[in-house]
Amino acid sequence: MRHSFLSKLLGKFERVGPREIQGVFLSLVKEKGFLEAIFNALQEGIIVLDNLGKIKYSNLAVQRLFGVSPDDILGKEIQKCIPLIDWPELISLGKVISRDFQVFYPEPRYFNLSLIPLEGLGDKNAAYIAIFYDITATREKTLEAIESEKLNLLTMLAAGVAHELGNPINALGIHFQLIEKKYKKLLQQKNGQIGDKEIENSFAAIRSEIRRLDGIINQFLKAIRPSPPKLRLLSLNQVLKQAVEFLSPEIQNLDILIEMDLDQGLPLLRADRNQLKQAFYNILKNGIEAVGKNGIIKISTHADDSFLIVSFQDNGTGIAQEAMSHLFKPYFTTKSSGTGLGLLIVRRIIRDHGGEVQIESQKGKGTTVKILLPRAERLIRLLPMAEKAKQTEARCDE
Ligand SMILES: Nc1ncnc2c1ncn2[C@@H]1O[C@H](COP(=O)(O)OP(=O)(O)OP(=O)(O)O)[C@@H](O)[C@H]1O
Ligand SMILES: [Mg+2]
Repeated sequence: MRHSFLSKLLGKFERVGPREIQGVFLSLVKEKGFLEAIFNALQEGIIVLDNLGKIKYSNLAVQRLFGVSPDDILGKEIQKCIPLIDWPELISLGKVISRDFQVFYPEPRYFNLSLIPLEGLGDKNAAYIAIFYDITATREKTLEAIESEKLNLLTMLAAGVAHELGNPINALGIHFQLIEKKYKKLLQQKNGQIGDKEIENSFAAIRSEIRRLDGIINQFLKAIRPSPPKLRLLSLNQVLKQAVEFLSPEIQNLDILIEMDLDQGLPLLRADRNQLKQAFYNILKNGIEAVGKNGIIKISTHADDSFLIVSFQDNGTGIAQEAMSHLFKPYFTTKSSGTGLGLLIVRRIIRDHGGEVQIESQKGKGTTVKILLPRAERLIRLLPMAEKAKQTEARCDE
């Protein structure tokens, strides 16, 4: 349509007066401004290329997505402005192409690029239109789904192995008790002869290691058995105090100072008490292990409009930058006796409650773990609003 309009105009060109030309010119300028406003309002980045790969047009989103200004890149080769893609190769294919790629600047993001030849649209120099869709959020969701699927499989496998280990450990314990008894009996038969100190030390070590193994497996099974949270209204502050109480032998042994700054006006939370206790226990245990003797752990609670927030701040070893992205991976540990499952379990529990875990750390200075849990009344508040919306809709329909 636009072509026929222009052809007609050109056909009449010699017959039209300067006033008419001015009018047409103004409406073209207006239309250009209108189209530009539309293109600049789009979330997708759009670049028009000529047949040599030079940029003829780019919208504002390109600046936001790639950190390059549309004015600066105008007339330049796209390969120089967005070098992550092999543009000459894509252009040489001469057909519609869709590719996913990743950029690291100005921030890490994933994109889908659609490169579409513009043949037949009248402009001989504009050869391609490149549309960039930001797919970071969708991709993250897919990765999360894969991760959670993997985690479920892993949890089942681990639970099975741990359960199977329980039987031989039991048998070991029983046989060890029998050996100990027999040893004591033999000593008695030899008229109360004093036992061999080395053997007795070994007995003590075996006894404590069997107990430790048993403890680890029980804890592990308790922690990883996936069960949906049994939600009850409870006091977050109280659960925190119980988790601290549970670890008080370690806290006292190491002379660790626990500073509690709990908001007494905190609303009740809808949560599973045992699961939350488990999550707080894991975070506190990490804090204790990080601060060591005479360390300080500050625990505080407060609420905002959407969440109840718990913060665990320690002045321990801190976490190295390169470790930060691995913290929630199964079996990631920097400790000789760690399982590397603690934080992963924390995240699973908090996510099952609709919440979020945030970790900030500075090597050598300390770590802050923040837990955000949605306010109990958030859902309740939403319901009447939805109801109201329905009523309004119904009234509009009438
Ligand atoms: N408060 C903290 N301070 C310093 N490093 C921490 C802290 N919390 C976690 N980390 C780091 O994150 C890693 C993973 O923690 P996670 O709790 O998942 O496993 P773990 O503590 O190593 O083992 P487990 O919890 O099974 O005993 C730790 O090995 C440690 O390097
Ligand atoms: Mg841990």
